[in-house]
Amino acid sequence: MGIVEDRLNELKSKEEKILGMGGEAAVAKHKKQGKLTARERLDLLFDDGTFREIDMFVTHRSTNFNMDELEIPSDGVVTGHGLVNGRPAFAFSQDFTSRGGSLGEMHAKKICKVMDMAKSAGVPLIGINDSGGARIQEGVDALCGYGEIFFRNSRCSGVIPQISAIMGTTAGGAVYSPAMTDFIFMVKKTSYMFITGPEVIKSVTGEEITFEDLGGAMAHNEKSGVAQFACEDDAGAIDNIKKLLSYIPLNNMEDPPYKDTGDDPARLALDLDSIIPDSPNQSYDMKAVITSIVDSGEFFEPHEHFAQNMIVCFARLNGRPIGIIANQPMVQAGCLDIDASDKATRFIRFCDSFNIPMLTIADVPGYLPGSDQEWGGIIRHGAKLLWCYAEATVPKLLLITRKDYGGAYIAMCSRHLGADMAFAWPSSEIAVMGAEGAANIIHRKEINNAADPAEKRGEKIDEYKDLFCNPYVAASRGYVDAVIAPSETRSRLVDALEIMATKRETLPPKKHGNMPV
Ligand code: HXC
Repeated sequence: MGIVEDRLNELKSKEEKILGMGGEAAVAKHKKQGKLTARERLDLLFDDGTFREIDMFVTHRSTNFNMDELEIPSDGVVTGHGLVNGRPAFAFSQDFTSRGGSLGEMHAKKICKVMDMAKSAGVPLIGINDSGGARIQEGVDALCGYGEIFFRNSRCSGVIPQISAIMGTTAGGAVYSPAMTDFIFMVKKTSYMFITGPEVIKSVTGEEITFEDLGGAMAHNEKSGVAQFACEDDAGAIDNIKKLLSYIPLNNMEDPPYKDTGDDPARLALDLDSIIPDSPNQSYDMKAVITSIVDSGEFFEPHEHFAQNMIVCFARLNGRPIGIIANQPMVQAGCLDIDASDKATRFIRFCDSFNIPMLTIADVPGYLPGSDQEWGGIIRHGAKLLWCYAEATVPKLLLITRKDYGGAYIAMCSRHLGADMAFAWPSSEIAVMGAEGAANIIHRKEINNAADPAEKRGEKIDEYKDLFCNPYVAASRGYVDAVIAPSETRSRLVDALEIMATKRETLPPKKHGNMPV
């Protein structure tokens, strides 16, 4: 055997050992829980044969607690790059079978390296998290590793898309890196996120709670809003990550990817002409409106389970990706509250960071009243929505379908906050408030003093309705650019998007604004 052959065999046997990850028993235990291994996850994410691993031979250099006798394959994290549906991306995938995927100094260095490379190349970074957290034996070196990752999360934000999948138990500071990225995908029944786990909670406060209720996929998708997607299994999560990537550009200097959807841009959506119910108190499904307008009726929805009075989703209009922000009249009449403001704001900022034009669809009766909302800071959270719409420089389109009242009219991307084109259906009511409330306030004395107060109230309500509960006052001032038949909405929006596609607007030079967070 020649020396080259010897060396090749040595390489092969080293690689084989590393590819075995934490060993057969650990891998079998892991898979028994319905989870894929770190390497299987990457195989599913990247197009066949395109994944190129880097830093396979990196090892830890800790000597505490006899660690020098311990081999941790790839130091518990697989890193590299490849193609996702033909487009480049970097990724890291933590290997729970190797010392619980715990994060030590070198493990963190590997993650930081792919973050740096992804930022230099201007391509997305996908992080697959499955780790017991800071490698306890490595002490402050492990903590420092997290700090270096957080630093890069912040520096990469708005430059490249950062996407996190949580595929195991993520605890303590380890949850903060995913929280600093753009989207979090969780897996039902196998992924958890919390700052302090159930045992610590019980010992400190006495509260008893399960892993699932505290930090499971639905807890974070429904209650906290920390995660945007709850997927059935690992493969489902990876599938959804690929779907998300199909709507977004590689970096902040690129336009989002055009795709020929074959849907006629001038297609009439006749169903929309009868979608608004006769009674203003009756609801309808805003998702049906979105389905009728967008290419092939397809949209992709982050935060599907959180603040359902607000819908955010990606879709395409004439092949161009857009972000949609819409009130949902079926939930709490589509009113604005703290969670809805948070949800919309985060989505608007993502779209604006990555050059994705936005369509806002308004049917909003106002802000949710109540001390919970006031003390929870609806003023601060609601202000974020105003702030972010005003800050966004991408093309902004507005469609008003029905109610658009008061401060919520301003907040839902009115022309005054910079909408480039505003359309209203004939059913729109653009007013300070609904006619009943308005009549009761401005004509209270007249109504109370009338011989028949109920009749008078009805008269005054009708009077206010005639005056303001329509789109024509706003249209007469130019606050609405066109009142359109609902069935024509798609073609009007397509034309508006096409004409605004070359929009170029820059903000005044500044370090950064001080958003009310
Ligand atoms: C070192 C760890 C580890 C860790 C797990 N392991 N977590 N080793 N440091 N943080 C090792 C275990 O010792 C075990 O090694 C192997 O990984 C598998 O772990 P198990 O406990 O057998 O797995 P399981 O029963 O599935 O439980 C998973 C778990 C549990 C719930 C995640 O391992 C756990 O509670 N780990 C500790 C979590 C934690 O407190 N982390 C520190 C958080 S503080 P062997 O040799 O048996 O295979 C933190 C600070 C960050 O992260 C601060 C940033 C600002």
